[in-house]
Amino acid sequence: MKNFIYLSLFAVLAIGLSSCVSDDVEVREEFYYPEELAMLQQTLDLPEKPLDYNVVLPQHLSSSGLFARNINKDMATLGRVLFYDKALSSTGEVSCASCHKQELAFSDNKISSDGVDGETERNSLALGSVASFAAYYGLDIFGTFGVPFMWDNRFGTAREQAKAAFTSEVEMGLTIDELVNNIENRAFYQPLFRRAFGSTQVTEERILSAVAEFVDGLGTFDSKFDRAAEKSTDGFNMEVNFSDFTAAENRGKEIYLESCAGCHSSVFGRPVMNAANNGLEMQYQDEGIGGFTNITSDQYTFKVPTLRNVAQSAPYMHDGRFATLEEVVDFYSDNVADHPKLHEFLRDESGQPMRLNLSSQDKAALVSFLETLTDIDYLQEVRYSDPFK
Ligand code: HEC
Ligand code: HEC
Repeated sequence: MKNFIYLSLFAVLAIGLSSCVSDDVEVREEFYYPEELAMLQQTLDLPEKPLDYNVVLPQHLSSSGLFARNINKDMATLGRVLFYDKALSSTGEVSCASCHKQELAFSDNKISSDGVDGETERNSLALGSVASFAAYYGLDIFGTFGVPFMWDNRFGTAREQAKAAFTSEVEMGLTIDELVNNIENRAFYQPLFRRAFGSTQVTEERILSAVAEFVDGLGTFDSKFDRAAEKSTDGFNMEVNFSDFTAAENRGKEIYLESCAGCHSSVFGRPVMNAANNGLEMQYQDEGIGGFTNITSDQYTFKVPTLRNVAQSAPYMHDGRFATLEEVVDFYSDNVADHPKLHEFLRDESGQPMRLNLSSQDKAALVSFLETLTDIDYLQEVRYSDPFK
């Protein structure tokens, strides 16, 4: 009944408005109603027309089979506001963005992130995918084939992940009812829901879909690496020296393709492997994926994370043990541990842990290559930024 009243009210309102706003239906459909815009802009720095979240992928990525993006801009706009809204936590102090900061490629610069009650167990993961998270991570598109979320791969979709963050006692600490309530109590959400879903009704399903749409739309593919690859290759051959790279960056790329790309991908699209043990030490505190699945072969394996924007997302690894990329490179060069689960790509022919024994010059070259993966626009892009005034 309540829904019916809302809907009828909305219909009356919509008819009333459409007769006085404009004759040009096409144009009007793109915009908020003036009253809505006035209400939105009291709290939010949103433009009069929802921003576009679709993009055209550069050739070296689209030719490697990545999906083009199809992001609903109204849902993503709502998702953006939800992502940055601290009112959606039990203390009113934590939003998704507290632990996923845009200038840090949506990661956190702390080993463990501060939630409403204590700290997270693991290091925050940088967010950002190429085509869309759904096509890159997550099982949304591929069904059973895909790269799930979290260091222990425990969520298959961005929705499940968002629900867990809102309701986690440590992270945001709300029940779903409280979440719905907090949103209903904030009038500026009404036009955002209306545009995204055709009515102002707030439901769990709608909230999670909108957050997932925003997360899916966090596309990053315009780094120095991408531009140089686009210019220098016929789409596939990453092995040629890039004309826009320095000698050190090209040398770093060579080392990377030889020793790292087998897991982390040569074009930084989907990781080649969902999960692995990379020999951080002999004794792991954290069981990783095995702790979640209880399958022995999963024990002590972890998600292979994206290296896009990796220079922004320190500290590194699931436990944030390395503070800098130099430390990461030292580790892969000299200190990979002979853990029983160590992946064969990190072993030499005789089965011993890989020792790249890189010279200090080569280490610096590898770091400088990793730094070419930063997409500066992504870190500043308005459509991904905090919309609250
Ligand atoms: C208190 C800090 C905190 C908050 C709040 C938080 N996150 Fe996270 N997030 C993390 C940490 C830490 C991880 C990695 C945890 C793990 O794997 O065990 C993570 C992982 C993720 C991932 C997985 C990324 C990947 O590559 O697998 C996504 C997506 C994500 N968060 C989105 C969100 C969204 C959306 C919200 C808000 C609804 C949110 N987070 C709120 C700390 C936080
Ligand atoms: C066998 C697959 C594999 C290979 C080969 C590999 N990695 Fe990794 N990498 C991983 C896994 C798995 C993790 C996460 C491990 C964890 O946290 O327990 C990781 C984590 C990282 C991280 C941390 C990212 C973050 O956000 O915390 C960096 C940086 C990195 N690798 C760079 C490299 C470089 C550089 C090379 C080549 C020298 C390399 N990797 C080779 C599997 C691999």
